[in-house]
Amino acid sequence: MTAPSSLLTDLPSDLDASSLPRHVAVIMDGNGRWAQQRQAPRVMGHRKGVDALKALLRCFKDWGIPALTAYAFSTENWGRPLEEVDFLMVLFERVLRAELKELIREDVRIRFVGDRTQLRPSLQSEIAGAMQATAHNQGVQFTVAINYGSREEIVRACRRIALEVQQGNLNPAEIDEKLFAQHLYTHDLEDPDLLIRTSGEQRLSNYLLWQMAYTEQYFTSTLWPDFDRAAFHKALLSYQERHRRFGRL
Ligand code: FPP
Repeated sequence: MTAPSSLLTDLPSDLDASSLPRHVAVIMDGNGRWAQQRQAPRVMGHRKGVDALKALLRCFKDWGIPALTAYAFSTENWGRPLEEVDFLMVLFERVLRAELKELIREDVRIRFVGDRTQLRPSLQSEIAGAMQATAHNQGVQFTVAINYGSREEIVRACRRIALEVQQGNLNPAEIDEKLFAQHLYTHDLEDPDLLIRTSGEQRLSNYLLWQMAYTEQYFTSTLWPDFDRAAFHKALLSYQERHRRFGRL
């Protein structure tokens, strides 16, 4: 639930509390370039990226925005150099372990979308533990996409639906958009209202393609580690200037 505006901490006065997005998806791009600009190893950018994500999550709480979904690792990211992939996997695990108490204290519910079966067992168990420990939290709903790809998600949904038909539990005539969405990783999430992609790239990169049919898109040249409260404020101002019609007049 969105907090009443009187309870929101520091919501900038030029933002309308009654028309904030309820669900924001982010593509956290530009970590590597941020590090390279400082002659630092790319992985330093990912570390800073985690700090930016934590700060954003706190802002969601303060400003009463109920849901954040972050693209942490795509099905295509396995193609990166082995040492960067390894670094990211260890980073995810460490961050989950280090931040779990804080997530619980802040009433954040953490969930994951993507094919977790391909992840190392220690990360899988960290993920399962974090989901279980925060399952009843009612504050910000924080979803992390790891080994996520929209096309994989859609094919997986088709396979599951086909199996139900084959087993005689489903009539093809019953397949509609609602039923299809129930077979996606995101079955218990609302569609995003706003997508933010940093670093100047203007692509969806196989992210939430079904779910973002009517999502407003915001692209900024700011690199992810620099995406702070002020940058998010600008994104929200842009969102609030838009007139969402969902195909209607
Ligand atoms: C894209 O920047 C960023 C990633 C592929 C990783 C993002 C992951 C995090 C910020 C960690 C999140 C952690 C948890 C536990 C949710 P890039 O490397 O593509 O940057 P570049 O385009 O400048 O090379």
